[in-house]
Amino acid sequence: MMSEKTTAEGIRRYSFELFPFFLKVIDLHYILLSIENWSCIILGGMLDYCNERLTFGTMAKASNSNLHIAKRGKNDEFYTQLTDIEKEMAYYLPLFQEKTVLCNCDDLRVSNFFRYFFLSFHSLGLKKLIATCYKNLNPDLFSQHKDEQAVYCIYDGKDRVNDQFEDYDVFIKQNERSVLKGDGDFRSEECIELLKQADIVVTNPPFSLFREYVAQLIEYDKKFLIVGNVNAITYKECFKWIKEDKMWLGASIHSGDREFAVPDSYPLNAAGYRVDENGKKFIRVKGVRWFTNLDFKERHRPLPICERYTPEKFPKYDNYDAVEVSETADIPEDYDGIMGVPITFLDKYCPDQFEILAKTNSKEHAGEFLIGDDPTAIVNGKKLYHRLLIRRKKKGIHL
Ligand SMILES: C[S@@+](CC[C@H](N)C(=O)[O-])C[C@H]1O[C@@H](n2cnc3c(N)ncnc32)[C@H](O)[C@@H]1O
Repeated sequence: MMSEKTTAEGIRRYSFELFPFFLKVIDLHYILLSIENWSCIILGGMLDYCNERLTFGTMAKASNSNLHIAKRGKNDEFYTQLTDIEKEMAYYLPLFQEKTVLCNCDDLRVSNFFRYFFLSFHSLGLKKLIATCYKNLNPDLFSQHKDEQAVYCIYDGKDRVNDQFEDYDVFIKQNERSVLKGDGDFRSEECIELLKQADIVVTNPPFSLFREYVAQLIEYDKKFLIVGNVNAITYKECFKWIKEDKMWLGASIHSGDREFAVPDSYPLNAAGYRVDENGKKFIRVKGVRWFTNLDFKERHRPLPICERYTPEKFPKYDNYDAVEVSETADIPEDYDGIMGVPITFLDKYCPDQFEILAKTNSKEHAGEFLIGDDPTAIVNGKKLYHRLLIRRKKKGIHL
């Protein structure tokens, strides 16, 4: 049990499932927890529904303002919670045996990625753990990028035989002053040398540099598991990697929002936030996803489909040789042509069942399916947000 939060969430989920029983014993505390769960589920479901239905005009307004702040102001200090790392890692544990893991946007003194891998070093059977941060020498929670150097560590686990919790603080104390020659930029020569040593890179990189970050991982042929935002799918480079099956969405996050710790200076007027009893600020960010090239078995589970095709329900685009399927759950089982689906299709994408052929709203990726010049997907005169153009791979792969 590494995270108290995971335990708390487990209890909460459990309490929800036993809701009728709790009603009988009239335990007010558990009833309140269940009500909280209901409202989260309903709200989360509504947000996902909206995400799938939003058209081009409204999408921009509704997309996460925290994400915009990160992009515009280059405010990349969003710190990942341990519970989110644990939940995702649960799908890949055997793949880490004898591997060198690199967390290259991570200050070992504050990063939960470093904490997770240090505390599971032996249970995962890791070979080595490397962490580097960016422009920071002070052991503060949030890097202000005021230093020209940065701390790092290379850990081989040899000083302990199992994963003792108390070793963590000792290790941090011993290593908090190990300093890189340069500033820790993931693109620097020094950091690229460390990248070459790594088998798997796991982190939450700066969102403002997401494309460059992934491009480097792909260039050096690295396995990776990183946090990003679902809208990255619309970037032309990211879509290309997804289409070529060099990157896909991870296993544990497909909807709702996730909480991240942010610096005190973070403007808290944008979206859902909380301040804990120690004054630490957290914001909720919508559209968070894991991006990876590590395989997991759930990815090969075909999407259950039972809808039937009718031209009324699935109209042709004005400017694409394809039909519009505005919700992934409605993909018709008896249509073998090209279908346009929302980008959240990737949350359920089984590469054995469908192939991704093109993407609307981009001339570069519209392919031979575009009719005319304007790549924005249009149905009956209405402009739509990006759609992925997909086709069933083999006739008859249904659940
Ligand atoms: C979104 S935060 C995530 C921090 C940490 N990985 C986590 O998830 O808790 C991104 C981190 O990347 C660091 N960063 C920004 N630019 C960087 C660069 N060019 N090279 C390496 N790290 C960078 C920032 O200091 C910041 O701490």
